[in-house]
Amino acid sequence: MRLNISSACMFIQALLLAQGAISEAQLTVDFYRSSCPNLQFIVRGTMQVAVMNETRIAASILRLFFHDCFVQGCDASVLLDDTPTMKGEKSAFPNANSLRGFDVIDIIKANVEAYCPGVVSCADILALASRDAVVLSGGPGWNVLLGRRDSLTASVSLAKSNLPAPTDDLNTLIQKFQAQGLSVQDLVTLSGAHTIGLARCTTFKNRLYNNGGSGMPDQTMNMAYLQQLQSICPSTGGDDNLALLDFMTPSRFDTLYYKNLLYQRGLLNSDQELYSSNDSSTSTIVSSYAQNWRLFYQNFATSMISMGNVNPLMGNSGSIRKNCRVVS
Ligand code: HEM
Ligand SMILES: *[C@@H]1O[C@H](CO)[C@@H](O)[C@H](O)[C@H]1NC(C)=O
Ligand SMILES: *[C@@H]1O[C@H](CO)[C@@H](O)[C@H](O)[C@H]1NC(C)=O
Repeated sequence: MRLNISSACMFIQALLLAQGAISEAQLTVDFYRSSCPNLQFIVRGTMQVAVMNETRIAASILRLFFHDCFVQGCDASVLLDDTPTMKGEKSAFPNANSLRGFDVIDIIKANVEAYCPGVVSCADILALASRDAVVLSGGPGWNVLLGRRDSLTASVSLAKSNLPAPTDDLNTLIQKFQAQGLSVQDLVTLSGAHTIGLARCTTFKNRLYNNGGSGMPDQTMNMAYLQQLQSICPSTGGDDNLALLDFMTPSRFDTLYYKNLLYQRGLLNSDQELYSSNDSSTSTIVSSYAQNWRLFYQNFATSMISMGNVNPLMGNSGSIRKNCRVVS
């Protein structure tokens, strides 16, 4: 067969396409190396200011990333505001009056746009900011994989169905993680994020007064801890009062969350379940993290990368938003 110019061009084009498809299938650490070399410094610097202003914001940003990744993948869908034609995820029950930190993401995005306009996705900014949230809270660091694009849609129904509830039992938690391709170990490890941050009384109050409709407190809760929580959360009213997820070291990213579980001082039912449900596949991991912070740090980094790999939009799908709240 004679190879003329046009068929040669087509051949080369096909080669390039195939190569593109391969390189686009994977997120990479150096995705913005030439297009936005200062990206990591801009995100870290802005997060540093935000955490100095308010310690809790680290926890809030980390949670935003989790609530993004579990709904259509890590595509910044959680950041979209409602429009007349598209209901966003912010009003879904697990998110409403609960998610925080959107304004900090806006500030990071504005700072990034000032240096590298139109290049960096909101999904990647959220991935970097949550790593920095962990580091700034004294936890482990890791290399964040990048190259995600931003969604053109949001899903309020997936936000309702995919996100775990604080009242979920262990089997439900395991199923909801497995639905995202995440393992039992990822579940126990990522729950360790509850070593920082706060929760509203409404998310655990049933445990204090009427666990499972029994009219009694949860029997897997330490008595002194129960009384402390009852003083924060009265049986009627006070639903938006706040309690520490890790009452020992509430803003340090350490293993006290797991130690608390050993002593029946987990705040949410979903926390205590990891140790008290008598499923050794999770309780042995809880015990090992309680004793071995290195292991927890190592595995937390690995599990965050796994969560960050859930269904990213890449290549020609999705977009790079100008404003993280608006599809563009
Ligand atoms: C295992 C299933 C999980 C359940 C049922 C759950 C549930 C909750 C609930 C109910 C709150 C309090 C929300 C409120 O007061 O409105 C909360 C807070 C938080 N969650 Fe989770 N969570 C889970 C896993 C995770 C994961 C995987 C991460 C991150 C890797 C995470 C990070 C956080 C953080 C940092 C906070 C505190 C946020 C703040 O102070 O603003 N959670 N979680
Ligand atoms: C600082 O923190 C307060 C809450 O403590 C918040 O209302 C305010 O927006 C924050 N400012 C900045 C610049 O992050
Ligand atoms: C777990 O086992 C302990 C000790 O055998 C028992 O007291 C407790 O009720 C069990 N918890 C559950 C949720 O089955």
